[in-house]
Amino acid sequence: MEKVTCFRNIGELIQVQPGGETPKLVKKTRCALLVSQGKVDKVIRDSEVNHHDFFREVDLEGRSVLPGLVDCHTHLIYAGDRKDEMEQRMAGTSYMDILKNGGGILSTVKATRQATEDDLYEMARQRVLRMMTLGTTAFEIKSGYGLDLDTEKKMLRVGQRLRKNLQVPITLTYLGAHTAPKGKTIDQYFEFVMEHLPEFRHLADGVDIFCERDVFTVAHLRRLFLHAKLVGFHQLRAHVEELSHQGGCYNAARLGAISCDHLEHGTPHDIRALELSGTTAVLMPGVTFFLGGKKTPPVHAMIEAGVHLALATDCNPGSSPSYNMQTVLGLAQSLYQITPEQALIAATHGSARALDGHKNYGGLLPGQRADFIVLKTNDYRDMFYCFGENFVDQTYSAGKKVKGKKDPVSF
Ligand code: NIG
Ligand code: FE
Repeated sequence: MEKVTCFRNIGELIQVQPGGETPKLVKKTRCALLVSQGKVDKVIRDSEVNHHDFFREVDLEGRSVLPGLVDCHTHLIYAGDRKDEMEQRMAGTSYMDILKNGGGILSTVKATRQATEDDLYEMARQRVLRMMTLGTTAFEIKSGYGLDLDTEKKMLRVGQRLRKNLQVPITLTYLGAHTAPKGKTIDQYFEFVMEHLPEFRHLADGVDIFCERDVFTVAHLRRLFLHAKLVGFHQLRAHVEELSHQGGCYNAARLGAISCDHLEHGTPHDIRALELSGTTAVLMPGVTFFLGGKKTPPVHAMIEAGVHLALATDCNPGSSPSYNMQTVLGLAQSLYQITPEQALIAATHGSARALDGHKNYGGLLPGQRADFIVLKTNDYRDMFYCFGENFVDQTYSAGKKVKGKKDPVSF
């Protein structure tokens, strides 16, 4: 007999149906979720549960069950921290000025180069587990704190090890073009990235580039993307229009990017490009919150145009040191003025789409991975309402409960 686990006595169960134009949230009450071989089998009415039919039963005590949250943009493999930058920024030095002075990303590069592969792995593993207990069940992770061959490869090997050992969906991205290392100009370093791109093909699923004033230009982005396609990378993504408008979004979308990320300075022209290309817009309100930015992406114009939206933490030590997608949901509601439903769809199905994983996870639909979270309450909107609290009681990955780890002292 097939081993089916029945998660019964669910107060409300939320699924995300891809639907026609826009994905829809579907709510079922008083139901049971049947899971077989790590996947969703079906949802039945709780009154239909026949206790003899199942290998195992779990009583969810009338709670709310949601698809696991998907964090489609993180830089969670790094060493060191950048707490000192908080004081520097409050004293008037901007995020970009800290970088220009040799700090910022470059200080994380220094610490990450010095860390052993095992130490880096253990720190990243702790972060992933911490994020899972907060409700995240699928991840994207970028390199970009090496800016040399050895460390970039070390970071991506750590990502592969996490994927293999934790058995959770992890998409890996080569972000060699994050900034130039000390001693090289952007142009010099960019040629180095281009030359060695094929060596990363089997370590990462895609490439990314930080297209910004004083960092990489639109011309760099175009060359990187064309070469990455030629080399065989499947996913092209880019940090675009974050601190200024450079034209990266339009060009990335034209060249088939799977996601364009940040977009605080996005224009109607960019929105049109995203709409036509079907590229997902990845929004990260944690960055706006943490850096105290005033500008938010043109979210409502994007929604009106039917652009696919995703939400992510951008988990990194400089611009958004957060592990918590629940916080991102709350910030999206308040900073972007979107509804809990819109935010939740973006953080599940939308983020899965940004990783090309939406067939496999993000909706809690039959046939998908049984990645779900059980809340402390029976109404998912409590997460948005009583802001600032952790509402995730339990996280399940492929039908298995993720054991809450005691928080590590240092992370
Ligand atoms: O997504 N913008 C560039 N990269 C990251 C920040 C990386 C860092 O500050 O360490 C971002 O914001
Ligand atoms: Fe980022």
